[in-house]
Amino acid sequence: MKKAFLTLLAAGVALVAAAQPQLRKDNIEDVLKAMTLQEKATLLVGGARAAVVNGVTSGVDWNVPGAAGNTRPIERLGIPGTVLADGPAGLRIQPTRQGTNDTFYCTGFPVGTLLASSWDLSLVEDVTKAMGNEVLEYGVDVLLAPGMNIHRNPLCGRNFEYFSEDPLLSGKMAAAYVKGIQSNGVGTSIKHYALNNQETNRNENDAIVSQRALREIYLKNFEIAVKEAEPWTVMSSYNKLNGEYTQQKEGLLTTVLRDEWGFKGIVMTDWGNKAGTVKSAKSGNDLMEPGNQNEIDRIIAGVQDGSISQEELDRNVRNMLNYIVRTPRFNGYKFSNKPDLKAHAAVARKAAGEAMVLLRNEGALPLKGNEKVALYGISAIDFVAGGTGSGDVNKAYVVNMEDAMKGAGFTLDKSLADYYKAYIDYDKAQTALNNTQFSWFSRRKLSEIAIPAAAIENEARTNDVAVIVLGRNAGEGADRRQIDDFELTTVERELLRDVSTAFHAAGKKVIVVLNVGGVIETASWKNMVDAIVLPWSPGQEGANAVADVLTGKVNPSGKLPMTFPVNFMDHPSSANFPYNYNQNAGRGGFGWGPRQPQKDVDYTNYEEGIWVGYRHFATRGVEVSYPFGYGLSYTSFAYSKPVVKAGKDGFTATVTVTNTGKVAGKEVVELYVSAPAGGLEKPVCELKAFGKTRELKPGESQTLTMKVSAYELASFNEAASAWEAAAGNYTVAFGASVNDIRCSAPFKLAKAQTWPVHNVLAPEVK
Ligand code: BGC
Repeated sequence: MKKAFLTLLAAGVALVAAAQPQLRKDNIEDVLKAMTLQEKATLLVGGARAAVVNGVTSGVDWNVPGAAGNTRPIERLGIPGTVLADGPAGLRIQPTRQGTNDTFYCTGFPVGTLLASSWDLSLVEDVTKAMGNEVLEYGVDVLLAPGMNIHRNPLCGRNFEYFSEDPLLSGKMAAAYVKGIQSNGVGTSIKHYALNNQETNRNENDAIVSQRALREIYLKNFEIAVKEAEPWTVMSSYNKLNGEYTQQKEGLLTTVLRDEWGFKGIVMTDWGNKAGTVKSAKSGNDLMEPGNQNEIDRIIAGVQDGSISQEELDRNVRNMLNYIVRTPRFNGYKFSNKPDLKAHAAVARKAAGEAMVLLRNEGALPLKGNEKVALYGISAIDFVAGGTGSGDVNKAYVVNMEDAMKGAGFTLDKSLADYYKAYIDYDKAQTALNNTQFSWFSRRKLSEIAIPAAAIENEARTNDVAVIVLGRNAGEGADRRQIDDFELTTVERELLRDVSTAFHAAGKKVIVVLNVGGVIETASWKNMVDAIVLPWSPGQEGANAVADVLTGKVNPSGKLPMTFPVNFMDHPSSANFPYNYNQNAGRGGFGWGPRQPQKDVDYTNYEEGIWVGYRHFATRGVEVSYPFGYGLSYTSFAYSKPVVKAGKDGFTATVTVTNTGKVAGKEVVELYVSAPAGGLEKPVCELKAFGKTRELKPGESQTLTMKVSAYELASFNEAASAWEAAAGNYTVAFGASVNDIRCSAPFKLAKAQTWPVHNVLAPEVK
């Protein structure tokens, strides 16, 4: 009797176990079968983020306070919730928590644009290896990064998060970034897929783009990152593309991303709740973020009324389960909450120094390090480490230029420093009085203050050198403006003029530090000053890195990942960009109101097609202030004659670079290809590969080898819906910038090659 009972019990347990399998890497199909419709829908919709009210966090225990989102657990089946947090200049979580004196600060690393300025894939991987360790050790499963939209126009408010105007550089940078983060066993989310090239009305803006420009410019970088680095996740953007929300566009999310590029991870929406949840899921968007109950209900209703099939639902759930079994949360990783912030700060400083771009140097740099310095500019104190919005990292400190300069051994003009300090204190008091603290997406930047010309004349007498720091801050939810942002303000112009006049009259040099997130106008004033250093927004240790460069402790080896035009309107995209749009009028990225279709706000015509950045400037011979790929060094380099060898697929090119100067340094070498005439109209040249030497001592040489496949030479033919590499004679050129080609050699592609793809994503015919 007892035996029979036990047998019955065992059978019962087995039955329950069969119906309730616990998720393992090897039983995903069993778990899928065991899931109810309610559970499946739940897994496709994120959980609400932990609320922070008056500094008190309320959240469930698997959440990490300050994380942007999560996925919901289904405990019955052993499916844990997972945690997603921003990026990209470091992990963004809340730095303090209720009930503990422990802190949870993260390292503020250099922004994406500075990383890209390094042109150094191993440097980027080193940075993101350290960053990913913080993701892991703070209990986060996916970093919502890198941001990798193309710099279509200098005024996009989030350009600092992104890499470049060039898809190859952007794609390679993103791939290196992803590899570094994911080497920690945590995931990335490459974003924003795709065409989130402006912040103005980003939730609704319809980007109207030709198939060629899409394939060659705006999707190419994502293609490279997906194929080379296999990011765990992709974030679909808020905006529309050719009439449809990107998150609901099957051609983009399934045909191109999965069928053509072989993406195997999950797609999640950017943080919003659009009505077409079912269409999103059906199109290949696996996860709705940040998620709410409506979306779960819509998916359930969609399955019940047949607007999404069981197979489509299961496809997404399977993707989610495959994602979850990779996460540290699922694998029970015991995170420490104690990453080595000190070591990571050193990584941030080193990377920032090397990646910085030296735009001008008329015998002013490096300094000796013991000079008396008149340090001008409010940004020397109100230093911009990163941008605003979700890309803003909660770091323990930001070194400013004043402290960095003192630390490096300089003596600062005290009365000037006191003057700036008094202004900042006054501003702080006013801010407190008027309660005009910045919010998370719009950190206020102090505007420049005038310094009387007579005071400057005095400072020119009593100091050895002037350093002027010009700053800009921007971020999510708003684009920059042409006036007083791309262009300098009147106060800034007067400061540059008066300081240059007075210091030059006294036989002393003037150095400008551009602490900016995006491109600014330089043509009208650059010749007034002796040196210009561009550290962008270089992270919490960035000011120390600037001092390292000023003293020559670090020889900068960065080069521009985009063009600095003479005038804003020289960019062809400027004709179709909301360049002086009033962001406060209600259609900034956070505005949702009723609207009449308005050009550049509700829709944006990408009329310039593929003529983005240097593709336009170099082909049409338009004068620029600083060209794509440009950057000086404290030493000089000579390039040998190149050798180009045709291979089975494309060619291999080598060049030997020699340090011909007096100090050690690294050189970025850019490989540009010009295609044979005839067929599709093409830019005069396009970047097809790049490399960077190791640090070469004076007189030392290194041979760099770069490979370019036939597919990489191809352009997109819309009529044939195919990539085509034309047969004929190509020119392979090595350059120190797109306008400074040092040597070239021919390459002959004997036979034309084509790669047909799906005819998707065409603009609607109106
Ligand atoms: C941003 C994303 C970010 C997300 C989560 C969105 O508003 O566009 O870049 O990852 O918020 O914070």
